[in-house]
Amino acid sequence: MTILVTGAAGFIGSNFVLDWLNQSKEDVVSLDLLTYAGNLENLCSLNDNPHHHFVQGDIGDRNLVSSLLEKYQVRAIVNFAAESHVDRSILEPTDFIGTNILGTYNLLESARIYCNNLDQNLKQDFRFLHISSDEVYGSLSSSDPPSNERDSYKPNSPYSASKAAGDHLVRAWFQTYKLPVFTVNSANNYGPYQFPEKLIPLCILNALQGKPLPIYGDGQQIRDWLYVKDHCAAIREILKHGQIGETYNVGGWSEKTNLEVVESLCSILDALKLKSNSKSYANQITFVKDRLGHDKRYAIDASKLERELNWKPEETFETGLRKTVLWYLENEAWMHHVVSGEYQHWIQKQYS
Ligand code: NAD
Ligand code: DAU
Repeated sequence: MTILVTGAAGFIGSNFVLDWLNQSKEDVVSLDLLTYAGNLENLCSLNDNPHHHFVQGDIGDRNLVSSLLEKYQVRAIVNFAAESHVDRSILEPTDFIGTNILGTYNLLESARIYCNNLDQNLKQDFRFLHISSDEVYGSLSSSDPPSNERDSYKPNSPYSASKAAGDHLVRAWFQTYKLPVFTVNSANNYGPYQFPEKLIPLCILNALQGKPLPIYGDGQQIRDWLYVKDHCAAIREILKHGQIGETYNVGGWSEKTNLEVVESLCSILDALKLKSNSKSYANQITFVKDRLGHDKRYAIDASKLERELNWKPEETFETGLRKTVLWYLENEAWMHHVVSGEYQHWIQKQYS
């Protein structure tokens, strides 16, 4: 049997595919459009693996997706494909609407038609797992409890609104057509292979290059941080034992202000790679203009996943962040390849 993983050359998708092929006998078809965020280098260790098949293409291309579903007799779809960066959605939302809403719609339709034509046994096993975000619940105040699966959606950015719309389509395809779906709403991921437009890899890269570590506004916004491999483990558990039609929140029980995050990574870097002038990387922290509509706090209540599927994160923020910093230090070549080309253009546009 085979699973289809979309957005497989991105950050979470590539971690998921690598972990999956390490522990499962099922083949993987990786589908990715290879936008600026897709990087085949993330998957290069699978080049000679006969259980992995990479296809460049769009989740919105119904002919392509239908042919892949048929050809590989796909048993499950895991949909990571998305435009994922909030700041880019603020500057130019068009691609977010295209992929996160229309792309999700087209993928659902391809899945529905394929699933309908499966014989009864294969139909029973088919699953469509959609990856979403804690941002769809909107911003919490400091006294609010963490978001749980029953909370209503209040997205505030073009990115989170597009993810919320995609989630609603997934729900509708379950309610109306009985497509066997799961929706997984996750907190901020961090770990290997994350594109350095996001806070943690951006600050690791800038720290090593002696550049400013940009903190938006006062740095007191709070995010809940989840080590990417814990997220991958949760997705595997949900695929195996999740209840069809359900939503599962995945979080790290690890709320931090942005300033705390950057200070922690500076301390780890100070210990692992002392600067030649012996000063702390924290001296590079620079407060810059705030993000428009910057949500104050996200936090995830992941107790349903623990109660029903016995999942909880293995990493604390401290152990996960140390592993992450070490990975970037050991993979400078990856970093250098990633930051050539389009990346420079983005940094100029966003931070100049
Ligand atoms: P990413 O930007 O690193 O990767 C996205 C991948 O999708 C890229 O490889 C890109 O080429 C591909 N892609 C984009 N449009 C496509 C299309 N139309 N067809 C096929 N492929 C396409 O993103 P990520 O951080 O790995 O996030 C993966 C998913 O998880 C997204 O749905 C995102 O909304 C969600 N999510 C991310 C986080 C996080 O902290 N990174 C947290 C919660 C949820
Ligand atoms: O919460 C889940 C979401 O986490 C995912 O759905 C998104 O796909 C993912 O990109 C992430 O969104 P954030 O906006 O939280 O991630 P980002 O790394 O861009 O920013 C984290 C926090 O750090 C946020 O409050 C903004 C702040 N920040 C970010 C950057 C890039 C800065 O202060 N400076 C920066 O340069």
